[in-house]
Amino acid sequence: MEYKLLNNGIKIPVLGFGTARMQGEECYKSVSEALECGYRLIDTAQMYENHKDIARALQASQIPREELFVMSKISHNFNFLQTKEQIYRILEELSLEYLDLLLIHEPYSNSLEIYEAMQEAYESKLVKSLGVSNFNEKFLFKFMQKVAIKPVLNQCETHLLYQQKSLRIMLLKHDIFLQSWSPFIANQNGILKHPLLNDLAKKYSKTPAQIILNFFYRLGILLIPKSSNLQRMKENLEIFDFGLEDGDLQKLKNLDTGKSFFGWYE
Ligand SMILES: NC(=O)c1ccc[n+]([C@@H]2O[C@H](COP(=O)([O-])OP(=O)(O)OC[C@H]3O[C@@H](n4cnc5c(N)ncnc54)[C@H](OP(=O)(O)O)[C@@H]3O)[C@@H](O)[C@H]2O)c1
Repeated sequence: MEYKLLNNGIKIPVLGFGTARMQGEECYKSVSEALECGYRLIDTAQMYENHKDIARALQASQIPREELFVMSKISHNFNFLQTKEQIYRILEELSLEYLDLLLIHEPYSNSLEIYEAMQEAYESKLVKSLGVSNFNEKFLFKFMQKVAIKPVLNQCETHLLYQQKSLRIMLLKHDIFLQSWSPFIANQNGILKHPLLNDLAKKYSKTPAQIILNFFYRLGILLIPKSSNLQRMKENLEIFDFGLEDGDLQKLKNLDTGKSFFGWYE
């Protein structure tokens, strides 16, 4: 697995495992398989209601805690005290003594209060890094002027049709990573069957999914694809052994529509 260094000096796996819409036995089985085939970062959120299933998989894996990177998100518009309570609740549900990364799931009206409680948890070492999700440039800019601890990353919708060009420029300037959610557009629009991806897959002897992940890796974007299928989980990990030529990178960049597929940020 490849790692990047966050702006607070903590190492993060470049590619992790997404767990949205995964619960119960399916979640336990998929996270267990993901850990077995080499994933070390697990992305979850209060909204996914799968912390306890993930906890079981983490424990069963017997992987030392320091080798894991577990991240979750505060998914409601809580106030300061409620957020403090919720952080303890997340830790309890995940059976962990600390989280590697905690995000605010969306730009809530209470985001500053939520983050204040997160900063306190950071100072108490309950959380190793703090971040945000779905913050557009304007919201993030204002937010950063008011917080003491800079977020390490912003997890946002990022795929071939919505490549987040201007947000990426801003994040780079502030040494904040972009982490892509739904790199395959959650398999909802047939992107994996796009003729350009089929051509590139043939040219590089890779799959369309691997072409997409390698493209975003080359752009310096962190990844958390989701799969409940062992074969595809492994496929999504095998993206570090080839490089797309500049001309092919450009062709993929040309697919950007600049618009959210899921209707965020508008
Ligand atoms: N912060 C946020 O607001 C937010 C929002 C959405 C998602 N997320 C995070 O981002 C993660 C990823 O996004 P996502 O789950 O929405 O969608 P995604 O990773 O873009 O796509 C998942 C879909 O693609 C299929 N798939 C996976 N690998 C494949 C491959 N190699 N070939 C063909 N199909 C493949 C999966 O099917 P199978 O399972 O059958 O393989 C599943 O249907 C989430 O799980 C979650 O952790 C965060």
